[in-house]
Amino acid sequence: MRLHLSTWPEVETYLNRSRTILIPIGSTEQHGPNGLVGTDALCPEIIASATEDLTDMLVGPTFSVGIAQHHLGFAGSMTLRPSTMIAVMKDWTDSLIRHGFERIFWLNGHGGNVATIQAAFAEIYSERSLAPPSNTKPNDLRLKSMNWWELPSVMDVCRREFPTGDGMHATASEVAVTYAGYPDQVRSVEMSPKIAPVGGFRDADDYRSRFPDGRIGSDPSQATVEKGKTIIAAAANSLADTFRRFADEA
Ligand code: NI
Repeated sequence: MRLHLSTWPEVETYLNRSRTILIPIGSTEQHGPNGLVGTDALCPEIIASATEDLTDMLVGPTFSVGIAQHHLGFAGSMTLRPSTMIAVMKDWTDSLIRHGFERIFWLNGHGGNVATIQAAFAEIYSERSLAPPSNTKPNDLRLKSMNWWELPSVMDVCRREFPTGDGMHATASEVAVTYAGYPDQVRSVEMSPKIAPVGGFRDADDYRSRFPDGRIGSDPSQATVEKGKTIIAAAANSLADTFRRFADEA
């Protein structure tokens, strides 16, 4: 069930049976020569959409711009500052709390978001911890985040589909997931070198000089719609189970 495709009475009815919502969260940043700029936002969105058929789950709007300052050397990349992202995540959370949501599952598609998501959680919990004692009991807020590739069993499937050159950025797996989600967006691009270099980076200029075509450690020319479908099916099964357990945990 998609929040954007629901009416408010339908959301109210959902709240009578569940207090848990899933928010796909990603980034808008270059993904190498054949990967879509929206890859990190599209992957959790596509996986969430495949999971809707498997379990009763409300999926909120995709938080689609994240921490991508290091990708700004490539056309189309957009970023939030960490402080902005924390503030926006807090406003999204407070809006949902007002309606009675108590468990918010952020399904993440971008490794660069992880530290800031954790900082946002700390900020949100801090406000509650520092509030003066009150007679009204605050709601039982629980925030969870998970990277989609860390859903149980998903990494095994990715390694099986791409034994070499899955890589760290513009991975074959994530590009395959977007191709399966949008089969009319498949690109065929020669990669040179076949597998991109690996290493660290600092800011946008440093990243571009170390990784001239944007990839890190990957050969995403291996990505196909079929392989993407296999990964999505595994991720959706795993997400359905993980979401249910989060919704039901004591
Ligand atoms: Ni990515």
